[in-house]
Amino acid sequence: MTAQSFSRLPGFRDFPPEDLAFRAHIFEAWRTVARRYGFQEYDGPPLEALDLYVEKSGEEIVGQLYAFTDKGDREVALRPEMTPSLARILAERSRALPKPIRWFSIPQLFRYERQQRGRLREHFQWNVDIVGEEGVAADAEVLAVAIDGLRELGLGPEDFRARVSDRRLLSAILSSTGVEPAGMDDAFAAIDKIEREPRERVRARLAGAGVGESDADAVLTLFQDGGAEAAREAFGGREAVDSELARLEEYVAILGAMGLGAFVEVDLAIVRGLAYYTGIVFELFDRLGSLRAICGGGRYDRLLERVGGEALPAVGFGMGDVVLGELLRERGRAPGHARGVDDYLVVIGEAQRSVMLRVAHALRSSGRSVLYSLKDQSVRKQFKAAESEGAARVLVLGPDEAARGVLVARDMGTGLEEEIAITALEAG
Ligand code: HAM
Repeated sequence: MTAQSFSRLPGFRDFPPEDLAFRAHIFEAWRTVARRYGFQEYDGPPLEALDLYVEKSGEEIVGQLYAFTDKGDREVALRPEMTPSLARILAERSRALPKPIRWFSIPQLFRYERQQRGRLREHFQWNVDIVGEEGVAADAEVLAVAIDGLRELGLGPEDFRARVSDRRLLSAILSSTGVEPAGMDDAFAAIDKIEREPRERVRARLAGAGVGESDADAVLTLFQDGGAEAAREAFGGREAVDSELARLEEYVAILGAMGLGAFVEVDLAIVRGLAYYTGIVFELFDRLGSLRAICGGGRYDRLLERVGGEALPAVGFGMGDVVLGELLRERGRAPGHARGVDDYLVVIGEAQRSVMLRVAHALRSSGRSVLYSLKDQSVRKQFKAAESEGAARVLVLGPDEAARGVLVARDMGTGLEEEIAITALEAG
């Protein structure tokens, strides 16, 4: 057989131990915070029926699917997001569950994206969702989880902010300017592009969606940098705008009461690309605005019934590990990774090996991490290995000590040595 070399596929990552430790650090913070808010962890299969995503997720994600026909002639796709799977799982089970349902998950997701900073073809995404509660308190609770997830990792209001908006408010404003329901998706798409496209292009798109000429400037200005106040000034008094604004303000007030006000900004340019959102939506960004979104989410009250389940309101978010990892590294919040074991056992002569194995296994049974040389090596080499493995303690078994039923323990931090009875170690 001829040798062949392989490289990693573009957009995928290897996780050598130091990178895996960083990932585990992020996951641990996510799990800790989710549990603090009473969420239970779930998972689903990484491969789903292609139909689950077509229409439900929206064009952008469908264009990025890893999809193929399996050997049983089924059209399948690697999951690009978790929300459709959650809806499918709950369609089967929700009737038996007490509401609201609080579930979280950390799936690996796959999207065939154009590779760029913060965007890969796989990522892990913390999904936190509340299902079965339509009130704005659930929206606030979910955003509080996202914010606390980042705080748990050492980030504060100087590092990131949540930009919040509401599709119902946007709809009310847009329909007051002449947009018919059929043009709403196009109008949302135009607003979604507002930060990336020239003003004139966005203006033309909005006009195409039905925004009347007399309102065009006010709409553009509002969505470029307007908050709740600006919306009230420009569009207050128009049908439904005031009541939608009041709900968004209540949401912000709840987050303020939780002490999280410094993280939250109303920003009506946030629309979210996914098709299923129906209410409050939000995205978390680094303060400098140099990275892509760390997290995105919102309310999606129609999705469960669309996959054949109970008609349950739902709200949640997805937070990816890629942009977050970059931000943590940038802010010096990535933990150092040190090798380390509790004990390294050194034998002076192979005659001690069987005693050493007994001691090693007794220590492991008691919960300590233990290493020893797997082959006959000089004492000097064994000590070197103990050092490079980061052993906190070295236990030396020599013939004289063994005859007396003891071994010598050296604390590698202080260099201090003491004799310990082997029976004491074996007793744990
Ligand atoms: P999303 O905005 O598509 O939402 O993704 C959420 C987050 O996942 C993004 O803000 C980003 O951090 C990360 N992410 C997405 N795509 C990539 C990628 N190609 N590479 C690296 N990171 C990425 C959703 O997926 C919704 N299902 C979230 C949700 C849950 N809404 C309600 N519940």
